[in-house]
Amino acid sequence: MEPGMTNTSDFSIDRADLADLIRRRRLPDAVYVTRPTMPDLRQYTGVLEGIWDRKWLTNQGPLHETLEAKLSAYLGVEHLSLFCNGTIAILVALEALRINSGEVITTPFSFPATTHSLYWNRVRPVFCDIDPVTLNLDPTKIERLISPETRAILAVHVYGRPCNVEAIERIANVHGLQVIYDAAHAFGVRYKGRSILNYGDMSILSFHATKLFTTVEGGALVCASDVRRQRVNSLKNFGIADEETVIGPGINGKMNELQAAFGLMQLESVDLEISNRRVLSHLYRELLAAIPGVTFLSDIPDTESTYAYLAVLIDEAHFGMSRDDLFALLRKCNIVARKYFYPLISSAPCYSALPSAASSNLPVAERVAKQVLCLPIYGTLDAQTVRAVCETISEAQVVCSAGKAQAALMGVRTT
Ligand SMILES: Cc1ncc(COP(=O)(O)O)c(C=O)c1O
Repeated sequence: MEPGMTNTSDFSIDRADLADLIRRRRLPDAVYVTRPTMPDLRQYTGVLEGIWDRKWLTNQGPLHETLEAKLSAYLGVEHLSLFCNGTIAILVALEALRINSGEVITTPFSFPATTHSLYWNRVRPVFCDIDPVTLNLDPTKIERLISPETRAILAVHVYGRPCNVEAIERIANVHGLQVIYDAAHAFGVRYKGRSILNYGDMSILSFHATKLFTTVEGGALVCASDVRRQRVNSLKNFGIADEETVIGPGINGKMNELQAAFGLMQLESVDLEISNRRVLSHLYRELLAAIPGVTFLSDIPDTESTYAYLAVLIDEAHFGMSRDDLFALLRKCNIVARKYFYPLISSAPCYSALPSAASSNLPVAERVAKQVLCLPIYGTLDAQTVRAVCETISEAQVVCSAGKAQAALMGVRTT
């Protein structure tokens, strides 16, 4: 049992009602926000036997090459390079585009790796507010942040929801800026009939264990040309171009054969993973649609989603309970939702002193970060559990609203 599992003292309304709800609704086993769909172990072992026979463990082995080719075909991109993880892929993207000084405009509403990559490349992040619909960089707020120091825009397709790529491209062209997309969440997402990875100068993917498609740890970098891909390939291998040539300050970003083997297995089942998630996503929408204060993110036109995340916004005024209280209540019911992305990266001590990190500069991001909650979704999650999650949320709303109404009648302040 987690500390304080039956103690509801952190809730600001009627304790007894909520304690009763938790007692009745608590699931026997923890349900996490995501779980990887594991490949068949015997099949994986068979592929591993090949690695044992060949004794070729890393440095562009045959499985690495096969995965690179198969992924390029699956995703519909021409110039893809595999990586040991997505973070190193962003570092290399910046170095490959020679962005290692000055400023880059980026979003505070992302995983810390996005901004940290700038820091590691000696670039100053300039935080720009997000659009209330896409939850990605708001193009109408980018231009006012451009200075003579600005080198690039590092945007994120949060939850796999496409940025306004056309507007970002227009701004980049007018001001001579490069564009890198952190597409860590956007595996398989298509926009206007083609891969979202085809936009910008470079895009990176993450294949971390929490992602829709995983190689345990892993990632990829998608470039606009083969020349760039060759530079990327050297930089991810210590800058080595051939046995006697080092082209620049590279790093070790290579994916190994065991990761590639896992990825090949995953690729076989990824379509099923997406379609299972689609069904669950629709079920969530159906079951939570009528609950006051729970809002789904609206679909982005022309987008083929892969249902990688199930994010909702909790409006305390209508729901009767804050996002944080609902999050804590769900934990006590063994439902491990996540506050992706709270707190904003801009509020971390390493960035909070930057002028662009001021809350007044980021009102939409601040609001969304306080309201967003990602609910469990993954291919092997069963519909019955989704129903249980939704019933718990629904009941929490009813209990809290009733508690508030009663308190109001008695003239007691509840928040
Ligand atoms: C938006 C975003 N960018 C970058 C990363 C870093 O990817 P990785 O964990 O593969 O290094 C993540 C990881 O979860 C992420 O969510």
